[in-house]
Amino acid sequence: MSTQEEELAGGNVTKVVRIGDTVRRSPGPWTPTVHRLLAHVRAKGLLWVPEPLGLDEVGREVLSFIPGDVPHDMPEWVWTEQVLTDVARSLREWHDATADFSAPNARWGLPPSGPREVICHNDFAPYNCIFSKGRFVGAIDFDMCAPGSRLWDLAYTAYRFVPLMPGPDTGDDAITGEKSPFQAPIMAARLEFFLASYGAVGETARYGCADLIRTTIDRLHAIAAWTEDYVRSKGVVALKDHPAMYRSHARWLYTWSESGEQSP
Ligand SMILES: Nc1ncnc2c1ncn2[C@@H]1O[C@H](COP(=O)(O)OP(=O)(O)OP(=O)(O)O)[C@@H](O)[C@H]1O
Ligand SMILES: [Mg+2]
Repeated sequence: MSTQEEELAGGNVTKVVRIGDTVRRSPGPWTPTVHRLLAHVRAKGLLWVPEPLGLDEVGREVLSFIPGDVPHDMPEWVWTEQVLTDVARSLREWHDATADFSAPNARWGLPPSGPREVICHNDFAPYNCIFSKGRFVGAIDFDMCAPGSRLWDLAYTAYRFVPLMPGPDTGDDAITGEKSPFQAPIMAARLEFFLASYGAVGETARYGCADLIRTTIDRLHAIAAWTEDYVRSKGVVALKDHPAMYRSHARWLYTWSESGEQSP
């Protein structure tokens, strides 16, 4: 097996290298808990997460390498209905497989959010998903995992994959950063489709668009505060404009939800 180190580009937070069929990442206090979690879901047959392989001789976490494409620059194929439904169903599988996870002395990278229904991935976004020929084949980057509600996790994934962002013709100068390629009515239909693909849970029918949008607004404020703190404490310049973007998107989402247009 190759011992050559190849740096994997794309991430903003962690130095990641590939060696043969493995990746090596700087660990955090949460790494032992995350490895137990990955082993837990794999034991249930959820095999699209990396296999946790312990630490290497220099203390980096070792995970199996998942071949495929990680979309960082949002190519056209990320917006297909196939991707939207694959992602919703995969997040559902993740939630169902983590609902009974418990570990003594668990340590997580983020505080818990909302009722403890599952372990939220908390960053289930295109840049942390792997695709092959336009189909979802895996997810990575479990550093943000923490107990929380399904809705909390669905909110950020919908924000990124629907996406719940102002469309191309939103002429509001106060909105900064990324935009959706879709006009609002299409975005509303995509949100419905995303939630329908996630499916019903227990005795509840399924999550409604209004609940999801409300949670997304809270989620965006939470991630803005977290990112601000992270930029301040770690000096990660690449993320410095993100808090303003999350807040401007949260304001736009609020206005959109008040307009009633989100009900297709
Ligand atoms: N198990 C894996 N299999 C395949 N590629 C991987 C794996 N883990 C990481 N990568 C690659 O390394 C890149 C960075 O990984 P990762 O997302 O873990 O880092 P990060 O800096 O924490 O990211 P972020 O900016 O999302 O916080 C990914 O975009 C992906 O290309
Ligand atoms: Mg990542």
